[in-house]
Amino acid sequence: MSTISSKEFIEGIPKAELHLHIEGTFEPELMFEIAKRNHKQIKYSSVEELKKAYSFNNLQEFLDIYYAGANVLIKEQDFYDLTWAYLTKVHEQNVIHVEIFFDPQTHTDRGVSFDTVIKGIHNALEKGKEELGISFRLIMSFLRHLDEASAFKTLEQALPYKNWISAVGLDSSEVGNPPSKFERVFAKAREDGFITVAHAGEEGPSAYIWEALDLLKVTRIDHGNRCLDDDKLVEKLASLQIPLTLCPLSNLELKVVTDLKDHPIVKMMDKNLLVTVNSDDPAYFGGYMNENYLGIAQALHLSKQQITELAKNGFKASWLTDQEKSSIIAKIDTYFQNN
Ligand code: HPA
Ligand code: ZN
Repeated sequence: MSTISSKEFIEGIPKAELHLHIEGTFEPELMFEIAKRNHKQIKYSSVEELKKAYSFNNLQEFLDIYYAGANVLIKEQDFYDLTWAYLTKVHEQNVIHVEIFFDPQTHTDRGVSFDTVIKGIHNALEKGKEELGISFRLIMSFLRHLDEASAFKTLEQALPYKNWISAVGLDSSEVGNPPSKFERVFAKAREDGFITVAHAGEEGPSAYIWEALDLLKVTRIDHGNRCLDDDKLVEKLASLQIPLTLCPLSNLELKVVTDLKDHPIVKMMDKNLLVTVNSDDPAYFGGYMNENYLGIAQALHLSKQQITELAKNGFKASWLTDQEKSSIIAKIDTYFQNN
């Protein structure tokens, strides 16, 4: 029997990331580099000054800085470099499968073409598959603070790239922008063959999770923390094994929880919910996948068995084929037995 530490155990276990905004991986150093070559101004004088601004009381305070950062992304190469930096980072952390979001409207509203954005991201993902062995899916997320017409227009722009996009999602300012606002867009997206997911119950109420399920027909909920307010909802999510993509460090930084010791992930596992660990916007929230696992493992005293369960859940909740899932889950079981 080996006696590696929890930290080493987390570092070595194969992981899948299912809730990651590519714009949220924009590290300050790369942001300054890309701003310089595009002759764009950043509001802060240095990387250190920028990092000091990363202190948030809620989701909106974060979003304001996150959208400002994305403003310096102009060329296909910029989106490629952003995505490649993320892939090389998570490759070091034994992440072997990613299902990532991009926010086209953040860029098309500034005059950057949909084509520029998706080509940069897709080409980096292809290279990551070839050179790093990281399999991937891409999720196009609508900004819920914008209107239905803008979402419809974005869906139209996506159609020529349908083969590159597995699903549509819904992110940005949650409270006041319920899933029902996008019922018709999501119906059209499903007709077009996209899977649907949505951020729900991060800051918004459990009623928004019901809407995401009933009106948008989502097969996965991003965050979903607030489901615990409603026993009937928990029962439904558990019985149908609808995955929740939880983001512990994001929840801490955006004050969804005040301390990681209060994070509901273990309570959720005890209720038989299919929960997964993800990083959301790692450049802004202080950690990638391993730091998220380590944060909850330390705060909640997770056993290696619980860590293993969470890693397996990441693959179960993914859109890999059943055969691919079985094969990697068997490998994770062996890893647990040997460590
Ligand atoms: N919630 C909503 N919108 C977002 C997030 C999030 O956690 N990250 C990036 N856009
Ligand atoms: Zn998110």
